[in-house]
Amino acid sequence: MLNIIPKPYKAEELPGKADARGGFNFAPCSWDRDTARFLKNISPSGGARLAVAAEENSALGKEEYCLDISESGVKITASSGAGYAYALESLRQLYSAGGGLLPCVKIKDKPRFAWRGFMLDVGRYYMPVDEVKRFIDFMVMHKLNVFHFHLTEDQGWRLEIKKYPLLTEKGSRRSHTNFNCRPHGGFYTQEEIKDIVEYCHERHVIVVPEIDMPGHMQAAIHCYPELSCFDRKLPVATHWGVKHDILCAGKDSTLQFVKGVLDEVVELFPDGYVHLGGDEAPKMRWQLCPHCQKKIKQLGLKDENQLQAHFIGEVKDYLKEKGVQAITWNEDEISGKAPADVTWTVWNVLEKDLNKMYAEMERGRKLINSSSVPNYLDLTYNKNPLKDVYSQPVDICKKHEKMLGAEASLWTEQIPTIKRAHFMTFPRLGAFAEAVWSDDMSRNYDEFLARIPAYEKLLKSAGAVKTASVKRANPGKIFGAFEQLWFNKVQLCWHGLHNLIDDAKVKSKYGKKK
Ligand code: ACM
Ligand code: ZN
Repeated sequence: MLNIIPKPYKAEELPGKADARGGFNFAPCSWDRDTARFLKNISPSGGARLAVAAEENSALGKEEYCLDISESGVKITASSGAGYAYALESLRQLYSAGGGLLPCVKIKDKPRFAWRGFMLDVGRYYMPVDEVKRFIDFMVMHKLNVFHFHLTEDQGWRLEIKKYPLLTEKGSRRSHTNFNCRPHGGFYTQEEIKDIVEYCHERHVIVVPEIDMPGHMQAAIHCYPELSCFDRKLPVATHWGVKHDILCAGKDSTLQFVKGVLDEVVELFPDGYVHLGGDEAPKMRWQLCPHCQKKIKQLGLKDENQLQAHFIGEVKDYLKEKGVQAITWNEDEISGKAPADVTWTVWNVLEKDLNKMYAEMERGRKLINSSSVPNYLDLTYNKNPLKDVYSQPVDICKKHEKMLGAEASLWTEQIPTIKRAHFMTFPRLGAFAEAVWSDDMSRNYDEFLARIPAYEKLLKSAGAVKTASVKRANPGKIFGAFEQLWFNKVQLCWHGLHNLIDDAKVKSKYGKKK
């Protein structure tokens, strides 16, 4: 058994050990920057250094690599820096597990899916740049290559936009969080964003920013009330839950605002993708709003769901002109209406509704599996136990070419600290990485568990503050029920009641005029 997560595609273990306790002696190659990064993660204990040579072979895929370890040295073959970096990552893991003594082995490795993502929600809780970077390091360790950066929320706008300075001046701070009276805030300057993006690119990770619209926009509405249907003056949201005040899709000025934001977003994030959210956008306000209703009539649309599809379509077209691919979350009521050239991160499709996803694929839509069960890492270990994350099929639609891959998502409503973030992420991220990278036929949960002790050691050395034990990550019925109860209690808070009262207020004020 090789202590590498995710498990390589093919590995032939040979007799003998290579001694790298004294470290490594790398021959220069085109990817010296990756070498330098690798060496920072190695702590030699003295003695002779093991030779490492690299060979470029353009016949290999971009992320493929061969890693041959023998007593006399290490040879890496790759066609690009990404493949080379992944070879070094495997080497690092073997080095860490063996305390510098490496098994002699011939590895040929390549990913199962091209899109191997990790989503981080910094809207609910801001995360300092260094901690974001630490997550990027963890992504690289797991051979993940898409950083989905969820930057805007009802509870906080985290991205500096020069054209709309209030978004961060006012929109990045909330007065309190649920029943906790402490203010919370923070945002990334454009310089910090460039630094994060560069950090990712050096590590062969692309960045997909998410500007969630038309829902999840209360922080922006706080700064610019005219973005909402009734120019409502609302605070940056202080409670979790779905908010009913969303962008007004009837006013042309809303689209101008969105375009202004995206002009800067596509400059800051040059990888050719922008996630437009599109999730959880209740239509109560649109049903009452004269602007939205006028737009529906003008365009000959059937209802408010079609208006959302139209709105996303307009933004998608704007991005397309700039050579940028739009992505949104799948939303059931928009199914079959939204333009098919918007890629979807699929988050809430039940087994029984998978036929809707087949239909979307038939229309040509590309999908990324970000199914909340089992890929939301903020959900309890009771809901998404380690074994379920590991055993998932990933390719839910069994049509490989349209299923780009998958994302593990860390929403942060229940994650106010880094310690909690790491505890919820590990070891599930290891299981997720193996599900998206490793060959489906060779995956074996028991064998994965045997690699966990070495994985835990590696995580600790890489700065994981806290990880869940395998037992904790697969809770029994009774503990799991308590864990779920606690989570649900915190989840509910009072937003449901608040929305109910607020809706009644809006209806009595604006409903009669219709
Ligand atoms: C989501 O979980 N609202 C995408
Ligand atoms: Zn409106």
